[in-house]
Amino acid sequence: MSKLRFRPLALANGLILNNRLVVPPMASQTADSSGRVTEQTLAHYRQLARSGAGLVMVEYSHVALTGRSEPNQLGAHDEACVPGLTLLASELHRAGVVTGLQLTHCGGKASQDVCGDLMGPSGITVPAYDRTLEAPRAMTSDDIRTWHRDFVAAAVRADQAGFDLVEIHCAHGYGINQWLSPLTNQRSDRYGGSLRNRARLLLEIIEGIRVAAPRLGVIVRIPGQDGYPEGLSQDDMRTVAGWLVEAGVLLLDISSGIGGWNRPKARRGEGYLVAESRALCGQLGVPVIGVGGIESADYMETALAERWLDLAAVGRAILKDPVAFREGQMQPGNTAPTTAAPAEAALAL
Ligand SMILES: Cc1cc2nc3c(=O)[nH]c(=O)nc-3n(C[C@H](O)[C@H](O)[C@H](O)COP(=O)(O)O)c2cc1C
Repeated sequence: MSKLRFRPLALANGLILNNRLVVPPMASQTADSSGRVTEQTLAHYRQLARSGAGLVMVEYSHVALTGRSEPNQLGAHDEACVPGLTLLASELHRAGVVTGLQLTHCGGKASQDVCGDLMGPSGITVPAYDRTLEAPRAMTSDDIRTWHRDFVAAAVRADQAGFDLVEIHCAHGYGINQWLSPLTNQRSDRYGGSLRNRARLLLEIIEGIRVAAPRLGVIVRIPGQDGYPEGLSQDDMRTVAGWLVEAGVLLLDISSGIGGWNRPKARRGEGYLVAESRALCGQLGVPVIGVGGIESADYMETALAERWLDLAAVGRAILKDPVAFREGQMQPGNTAPTTAAPAEAALAL
């Protein structure tokens, strides 16, 4: 029987991923200071495309200068970004992969000197595992309209550049995660309060993109949960995932929430976040991507067979060795796993 990881997967819009391996979005810090693609960016993604992954996601790209979290972050915030993004998309297509651009606004998760205007839903400091952030200002109704416009305009640029998909970054404590989470959104208008209200901006952005760029597939990176007391729970996220599917997203990429993407202290082993995709996989009517410390083809096969995920994102292991997961490659992780057994690892909370 053929290996599960090499089986193609068709998305609802007819797009076919050649296999179940995904290169997740990973900031490369190779853009120039205006957020444009450089030769270094192209070379970096040429390397990642060698993975042969069915889907290669391009790193978080800011939709506005105020949404920038790091210097040299890639941008999709103005027309001058389109030529470079076009080169990048065609480079990846030439390598035979489906490709998506992740769109982000950092909201309150940056510093004033990088984004110039630190703002969030309620002016609440965003908790983070790895740093202490400054308090953002609370956003106005005009700011909400601006974010909506900026996300849609950036998606239209991704469409013009030839990307197959855009991914809205609603995880890791960045802007749209801040809107969804009760920890950072304590507004009393129609964008705050109930879970549905907190999801409103995300859902409106998806609707806006689908109208403005009907060819483009839309996917969302969401937290499986926030991982903080009083934050988004797995039940909340099951409800949100249902709304996202109704809104027409093609697949969901399940990661962590407020706090960041880094491994939480309490989680160990290969697949340390896969319990999150496992909680949703097979229940939504769209495929889900699972992620978190996946290092071996054996783990991937088990996770696919057990339906913990439909697609496996492998980040750092592919940065380290881009071709490690290609068909026919021998992997050290296949024969001598150094971490916990897959089933235990996925359950390690
Ligand atoms: C260098 C680096 C940059 C990252 N940048 C992003 C990013 O731009 N957007 C995002 O959603 N996650 C980002 N992440 C998180 C990864 O997508 C992934 O979820 C995480 O690395 C866990 O997967 P892994 O254990 O296979 O590396 C980044 C991770 C790394 C290591």
